[in-house]
Amino acid sequence: MNLKQMAGIEAARYVEDGMIVGLGTGSTAKFMVDEIGRRVKEEGLSIVGVTTSKETERQALALGIPLKGIDEVPYVDLTIDGADEISEDFQGIKGGGAALLFEKIVATYSKKCIWIVDDSKLVKQLGKFPLPVEVVPYGSQQLVRLFEEKGFAPVLRTTPNEELLVTDGGHSIIDLHLEEITDPIALGTYLDQLVGVVEHGLFLNVVSTVIVGGQAGPKTIHVSE
Ligand code: 5RP
Repeated sequence: MNLKQMAGIEAARYVEDGMIVGLGTGSTAKFMVDEIGRRVKEEGLSIVGVTTSKETERQALALGIPLKGIDEVPYVDLTIDGADEISEDFQGIKGGGAALLFEKIVATYSKKCIWIVDDSKLVKQLGKFPLPVEVVPYGSQQLVRLFEEKGFAPVLRTTPNEELLVTDGGHSIIDLHLEEITDPIALGTYLDQLVGVVEHGLFLNVVSTVIVGGQAGPKTIHVSE
């Protein structure tokens, strides 16, 4: 079985009747949403989903999963989402699929977050994967210049058609090619205070459980309860 599919299906087992479930974005999350859709249809599982992107919303609606917006629920019981890199101390980079802002908002109001990845996403230290920074388009070139001065090797993200990428929130993304992030907390704090930065892809102290798809089967790591 595809390793991402393995992790996605395993994670869907954590979803229980009555839960409000945050539905992540990306190719791994897609398998999880498919499996939840199957459980809704075949097992009569009764949940409300809160999606983290237009893409996931389209998928969930097509599968018949009942949905509410993040502002229509008091909290989210459990969010299941993918990740681009997870370090040894379970900090993460997300946003490869450009959904980091909504993903972070949903994660923030979730009681528990499960990340689902294939084993290639587990790294010693974060940073090989370019760190996405979501920015307001107005003044974005000034931020690119600032990041260049800092040696962050910034690249404004474009679509496969080479048009400027626009996120679901109407923003741009600057990918920082850092190679290594020695102090994610300090970097996150620095990015948080920059004018024009809406959010960044460092997801720090967020995850409760990691499910890793590997050749030997899915491995579940409980980070915190
Ligand atoms: C989207 C994300 C994704 O969860 C992340 O990019 C992982 O994607 P995939 O499962 O396709 O490898 O953060 O913004």
